[in-house]
Amino acid sequence: MKAAMTTVPVPLSAGRDYTIHIGSGLLAEAGATLTAVARSSRAIIITQPPIAKHWAKPLQESLCAAGFVDPDVILFPAGERYKTLATMASLCDKLYNLPRTIDRKTLVVALGGGVVGDVAGFVAASYLRGLDYVQVPTTLLAMVDSSIGGKTGVDFRAGKNLVGAFHQPRAVLADVDTLRTLPPREFRSGLGEVVKYGVIRDPALLDAKPVRAGDITAAPETVIEIIRRSCVVKADVVCADEREETGLRAILNYGHTIGHALESATHYRRFKHGEAIGIGMVSAACIGEVLGVTPTAVREKVQAAVQTQQLPGCIPNDIEPDTLLALLGRDKKAEDGVARFVLAHAVGDVELMGQIRKESVLAGLALQQSLCTSARIEEIS
Ligand SMILES: NC(=O)c1ccc[n+]([C@@H]2O[C@H](COP(=O)([O-])OP(=O)(O)OC[C@H]3O[C@@H](n4cnc5c(N)ncnc54)[C@H](O)[C@@H]3O)[C@@H](O)[C@H]2O)c1
Ligand SMILES: [Zn+2]
Repeated sequence: MKAAMTTVPVPLSAGRDYTIHIGSGLLAEAGATLTAVARSSRAIIITQPPIAKHWAKPLQESLCAAGFVDPDVILFPAGERYKTLATMASLCDKLYNLPRTIDRKTLVVALGGGVVGDVAGFVAASYLRGLDYVQVPTTLLAMVDSSIGGKTGVDFRAGKNLVGAFHQPRAVLADVDTLRTLPPREFRSGLGEVVKYGVIRDPALLDAKPVRAGDITAAPETVIEIIRRSCVVKADVVCADEREETGLRAILNYGHTIGHALESATHYRRFKHGEAIGIGMVSAACIGEVLGVTPTAVREKVQAAVQTQQLPGCIPNDIEPDTLLALLGRDKKAEDGVARFVLAHAVGDVELMGQIRKESVLAGLALQQSLCTSARIEEIS
């Protein structure tokens, strides 16, 4: 039987357009798909041990079957703490020391989640002043978000993604079968971004039924469809504002202002990214409500969607609103220390608003907490 599969175009200009392939069984066909975009028969797979264990061999075999010659696999350790310049240097060393030298036509294949995609993409952007690369995302977050749009980079000092480059992939191959080995909490975390796309652009994603890790096997077409719809939104926004210059791309940060502050306050250890974004989206909805921007019914929809996808929607009691507020000023996207928030006028209609006063943020967070107490929304961790 032919595997279920769909595509989403990313129509960037000047020959940099590419296709996102989404489906089941795509890894087995990866070689054939990638021959169409590769400029040589040399490919290097960059990945991490937990992913390589399950998926490097099938990918290698598929590449070999399509005529790629001995595709090497290069590993680096899993975890955000390895998203560093030191890892970058060690990967460059490994490329340099390969028995067969590589040239500018060599294709880098980033097989993994957002960390692999960002690091391998940055290696591809820099080594020999730029190699072609493709993204083969293996987390839900990477499939719907980080593999699309060309942002690559590493963390530096206290700054997340502080050093990096824009470098668009030649293709994205999202094989939902790879999600079967992803820890369920990582899968759920990816749903945070899916809900976000619902709020900013696609109401169907906000109204989606609960999506569970078991659906990857039981109902792959459901998972493929939410990934497809999410990719359509991300691709559309990226194409309209590729380098974050017009302000449109900023709408992808819905829920991320408080979300990032929560991650930072808890040293990136307590929450998965999508969990922090779940809480942050409810915060943004509540701040919008107290400012008279977000109607109550919209705030309720956001809150319900977060709950439906089993993401946390409440700020834990031990994290003080003042602590979060102090961290907002350090957001590299904040303008002159004044908090900026993406707020929703309606589902599918959001706006980046600056000059949000401290009192309004605190009032919004207080509303969120009062709702949490009354609705008894539990924190999921
Ligand atoms: N470039 C962008 O536009 C963009 C957008 C959003 C997020 N990001 C970045 O993405 C990163 C987070 O990505 P993530 O949530 O995918 O986390 P991740 O890449 O750290 O992956 C999570 C964990 O799951 C493991 N894993 C991945 N796929 C697996 C699979 N199929 N089976 C078994 N284990 C698997 C990984 O090895 C890792 O341990 C952050 O660094 C963030 O800054 C980038
Ligand atoms: Zn995010």
